[in-house]
Amino acid sequence: MTYLNRITQCSQQIKNLLGADFDTVEFGIICGSGLGSLADEIQSAKVIEYSQIQGFPVSSVAGHKSRLIAGYIHNKKVIAFQGRFHYYEGYSLEDVTLPIRVLKELGIHTLIVTNAAGGLNRNYSVGDLMLIDDHINFMFQNPLIGANHEALGARFPDMSQPYSQNAGDQISALALKLGIRMHRGVYLAVTGPSYETRSELRFFSTIADAVGMSTVPEVIAANHGNIPKIVGISVITNKATGEDIHKEDHNSVVAAAQAATPKMVQLVKEFIRL
Ligand code: HPA
Repeated sequence: MTYLNRITQCSQQIKNLLGADFDTVEFGIICGSGLGSLADEIQSAKVIEYSQIQGFPVSSVAGHKSRLIAGYIHNKKVIAFQGRFHYYEGYSLEDVTLPIRVLKELGIHTLIVTNAAGGLNRNYSVGDLMLIDDHINFMFQNPLIGANHEALGARFPDMSQPYSQNAGDQISALALKLGIRMHRGVYLAVTGPSYETRSELRFFSTIADAVGMSTVPEVIAANHGNIPKIVGISVITNKATGEDIHKEDHNSVVAAAQAATPKMVQLVKEFIRL
């Protein structure tokens, strides 16, 4: 099956399962590691397990569910993907970006992507949020490599402003009002799954503020698909400054993300309310 057919089929199955109310959706949310409970805030929720959607990948990492949740936040129609696909799990970047293509097909005007990230910037503390102002693709992979599907977007999409400045300003203002410590910085994506060496971290800290293993493929696909507003928010789950030798571990990353979830939830809900 071609990728285009797969997108259409998955979108159609989701539409059939959700019913006419969700023929168009306003907001799409991708929940990062440990941030799945963002989706629990959705009212009148309808849940679809990925395994119910023929042609949809299933997520495999500890701390990740594998389902989408559709419903309302402040009366706005929202779909959240609880359980994202990471390149390091062995998925193709077509799989990784399929939720974005489906959300586009469902008509969203705003995409909110969240993730857990290591703080390269010395001013960042564990538990802080970082609004993604821009990114650096250190995955050396791109979801758009291969024949371009004109129906999805242009061959050479512009990436000079991949994240909406306007929405970013609104979220920064909200964070200030709510007393949530949020930075605005550059996210650098690596493939993982190994964490960075100290030398890599020293290098990365000269060019970026946070490092993680996701988000960039999705944001490239979202820009390719011309989703009008794209927002990325990281939770700083660990220090990644390369100054000391300490063992990074996934469980503490997930726990730190979970601890910061209430702030993320509050911020995202207030943004959707605007
Ligand atoms: N490095 C890469 N990815 C991450 C990290 C990190 O330190 N923390 C959370 N995701």
